[in-house]
Amino acid sequence: MEVKTRSESVPAMLPPRLRNTKRSYLSTKLAYNIGRLHGLGLRLYLYRRIGMKIGSNVVIRRGVYLASPNELAVGAGTFIGRASLYCTGGVSIGKNVNISDGVVFITAKHDVNSPKFEAEYEPIVVEDWAWLATNAIILGGVTVGEAAVVAAGAVVTHDIQPYSIVAGNPAKVVGERKRQQFEYVPGNYRPPFL
Ligand SMILES: CC(C)(COP(=O)(O)OP(=O)(O)OC[C@H]1O[C@@H](n2cnc3c(N)ncnc32)[C@H](O)[C@@H]1OP(=O)(O)O)[C@@H](O)C(=O)NCCC(=O)NCCS
Repeated sequence: MEVKTRSESVPAMLPPRLRNTKRSYLSTKLAYNIGRLHGLGLRLYLYRRIGMKIGSNVVIRRGVYLASPNELAVGAGTFIGRASLYCTGGVSIGKNVNISDGVVFITAKHDVNSPKFEAEYEPIVVEDWAWLATNAIILGGVTVGEAAVVAAGAVVTHDIQPYSIVAGNPAKVVGERKRQQFEYVPGNYRPPFL
C-alpha cells in the first residue's frame, strides 16, 4: 500500500480557507499566548498591538480563547469572561455587553452538501447592554439585539429582538427585559486576579 506523506495528503483533506489568512492564523496564535498572561492591562495592550479593536474600560478575562481576533471589535465598558470566540467571519460586540464564562461564538460552518465540505463564514453582532449568560452558544449570522438576555446554555440560531430574554435549544423567547436607564458598566467589574 502506498503511504502518503503528510505534505501530499493533508492539504486535500482541509476545507478551503476563504477568510482564514496568514494574518488571522498569526493573530489566533498570538492571542492564545496573550490570553494566558497575568495582568489585564498588559493583555489589553498586547491585544491592541495585534490588531484587535477594543474600546475603553473593557475586561477580557484571562483564559479566554479568541480565534481570528483581528476580525473582532469590542465596544467600551464590555466584559468578556472565559469565553471561546471564533471570529473568522467577523464579530462586533457593542458597548456595556456582558459575556459570561463558557460562552461560544461560532462564525464558521461547513456546507454539508458540498462534496468538498466547503467552509462558510457569517458574522455575529451583539448590540449594547446585551447579556449572554454562562455557556450560551451563538451561531454565525445572528444579531443579538440591544439589552437582550441569552440564558445559560441557550443555543441561538436566529436573531434575538432587543430586550427579549431567550433560553433553550434552539433559543426561544421566555421573557422581556424591563426598558430603563441602566446604571451599571460590566467592564467596571474587577474581581482580583483578572
Ligand atoms: C437569564 C436568567 C437569569 C433568566 O432568569 P429569570 O429571568 O429568572 O427567568 P425565569 O427563571 O423566570 O425563567 C423563565 C422561564 O424560562 C425558563 N428558563 C430560564 N432559564 C433557562 C435556561 N437557562 N434554559 C432553559 N430554560 C430556562 C424557566 O424554566 C422558565 O420557564 P417556565 O416559565 O416554563 O418555568 C437565567 O436563565 C440564567 O441564565 N441564569 C444563569 C446566569 C449566569 O449565567 N450567571 C453567570 C454569572 S454572570
